[in-house]
Amino acid sequence: MANKEPIQDGAAETDGLEMPELVSRPRRNRKSEAVRSLVRETHLRRDNLIWPLFVVDGSSQKIPIDSMPDCFRYSPDVLVTEAKEAFKRGIPAVALFPALPDSLKDRVGTESTNPDGLLQRTVRQLKDALPELAVITDVALDPYSSDGHDGIVEDGEILNDETLEVLAAMSVSQAEAGADIIAPSDMMDGRVGRIREALDAAGFTGVSILSYSAKYASAFYGPFRDALDSEPRSGDKKTYQMDPANCEEAVREVFLDEEEGADIVMVKPALAYLDVIARVKSETMLPVAAYNVSGEYAMLKAAARLGWLDEDAAVMETLLAIRRAGADMILTYFARDVAERL
Ligand code: PBG
Repeated sequence: MANKEPIQDGAAETDGLEMPELVSRPRRNRKSEAVRSLVRETHLRRDNLIWPLFVVDGSSQKIPIDSMPDCFRYSPDVLVTEAKEAFKRGIPAVALFPALPDSLKDRVGTESTNPDGLLQRTVRQLKDALPELAVITDVALDPYSSDGHDGIVEDGEILNDETLEVLAAMSVSQAEAGADIIAPSDMMDGRVGRIREALDAAGFTGVSILSYSAKYASAFYGPFRDALDSEPRSGDKKTYQMDPANCEEAVREVFLDEEEGADIVMVKPALAYLDVIARVKSETMLPVAAYNVSGEYAMLKAAARLGWLDEDAAVMETLLAIRRAGADMILTYFARDVAERL
């Protein structure tokens, strides 16, 4: 054992090997779990976790998602039961994503402001059942759009300023339903400011904005789009979501969102963007969220199912790494399972 080795003056002879004198032995701080716990720099706690949930209409529904094993689309009644369980385990917040039939989708996402829409009803039921759970709602057109884009499409172009009006109305509708935190994921320019203005004008000065400030045009959203059937019908999202090559630009987006009134800023995805999380954390005084997205979830699940990875250990390491990079909170589909083990 390291602490039993005699301290030598200068190099010692051992079986003809030159042993260097070592004053610094970092291994001393790793010698037992007790010592390791004393020097541990980063912790993952249940209250760092946000659980994203998919909701479908109906009752008693729990529909599997092929590319996201152990994740389901829940009907509102089941979702409330699941959220209760998660809250009991110490998870402070859920993020909701509605899966709608094509019949409710159109060019401008009309259904997104329906006061009796699926999302609005679910928020109300959740807040009735669990007033202390923080409910986060996603603001973007894609679950409601017949084009599968986050904004209004015209002649193949995503219209920015016209989309802002829909996003603002959608935010107010979600706040009216009882959402605690509005999370714009659409990446239109100026949306945080426009949403803040609309919320305040409607009297919702206390409703927060968690902005997907640096959201990249990523291949890792594939399984999520399966879950919501929200794949873009044509084109891709590269004219609004960020280029994976860029990091400076993420800081610029964060600064704009700060000025426009964001309360929390987010980097998404997380794993391939740990440098962006670290950079954003060092540049802003706002809390930083990271989204451990569907593709990151699917990769781990797939490898674990093949017996190629120890799922529990790999999940803990992943989430800890995202915290170490600088994320104060993490949206992760592993939230409920992990909360049980923490
Ligand atoms: C859409 C939205 C997406 C995700 C969250 N909100 C997908 C997209 O931009 O196409 C992805 C989440 C995930 O992959 O887990 N506004």
